[in-house]
Amino acid sequence: MAPSDLLLPLFVVEGRDVEQPVTAMPGVARMSTDRAAACAREAHAAGVPGVALFPALDDSRKDRLATESRNPDGLLQRAVRDIKERAPDALVITDVAMDPYSSDGHDGVVTDDGRIDNDATLPILADMAVSQAAAGADMVAPSDMMDGHVAAIRSALDAAGYTDTGILAYSAKYASAFYGPFREALDSAPRHGDKQTYQMDPGNVREAVREARLDAAEGADIVMVKPALAYLDVIAAVRQAVELPVAAYNVSGEYAMLKAAAANGWIEEAPARREMLTAIKRAGADVILSYWALEVARELGG
Ligand code: PBG
Repeated sequence: MAPSDLLLPLFVVEGRDVEQPVTAMPGVARMSTDRAAACAREAHAAGVPGVALFPALDDSRKDRLATESRNPDGLLQRAVRDIKERAPDALVITDVAMDPYSSDGHDGVVTDDGRIDNDATLPILADMAVSQAAAGADMVAPSDMMDGHVAAIRSALDAAGYTDTGILAYSAKYASAFYGPFREALDSAPRHGDKQTYQMDPGNVREAVREARLDAAEGADIVMVKPALAYLDVIAAVRQAVELPVAAYNVSGEYAMLKAAAANGWIEEAPARREMLTAIKRAGADVILSYWALEVARELGG
């Protein structure tokens, strides 16, 4: 394990000098863009190559088509610019999905009868990715699980001249109970229904391989498996099946579980988190997104 194996997810909010702790994720806060930039700088200095950004928006900015996601002066776009200005060497990765901007709390467009419209979502994702690239994102990370998303995003980026903007595809993203604390952080839980029609069935590993191969063929630069800990076999299978770098997301619920046990004195946090991250790497992850990235990088001497 080295600091360079890690990426740090950050939650951003409006304001200056703001830090709002996330209750279910002790040690993690929603931060205004100035604080997020300082954090990205620190992480980079500790050897963590970059950050993955998620905006926490006020409900008043959300609508059914996630219009705010394409606002050139939106919170996320300003966060990218702030970080690029204050931490120019840190890699900035942005999340492509409708949920933080959607009044329905879903990653895709919800039809009047409550279904997810895959194909109506694709142009929205493509425009969102172009808007993020225009703000300066180095890589865009579609986490929406719509079919054909990587191809739609790649061709839109190329057409807009962003040929060097990379794609980190959340290829095998399971419909998991381990995203709960993240949804609290962004207030992005589905307002009705669940995500089982587009996220994957936890019992299925072959579909993960199929999704990773499809995303690779559509032009992904990195494929990701998410969550990580309960899906080590999936990471290993995807590692075997594709030649691209494989990422894994050590998600909010994995972080919260250990934090809660540690707060009770039931498990020792530092060795346990190292063991978790080592297991994820051992399974085959070349890159690990973890809320522990900064602490672990420092521990490793970064
Ligand atoms: C949604 C998204 C989620 C996460 C990253 N992007 C949650 C979801 O699908 O509801 C979860 C990350 C975490 O739990 O740490 N586009």
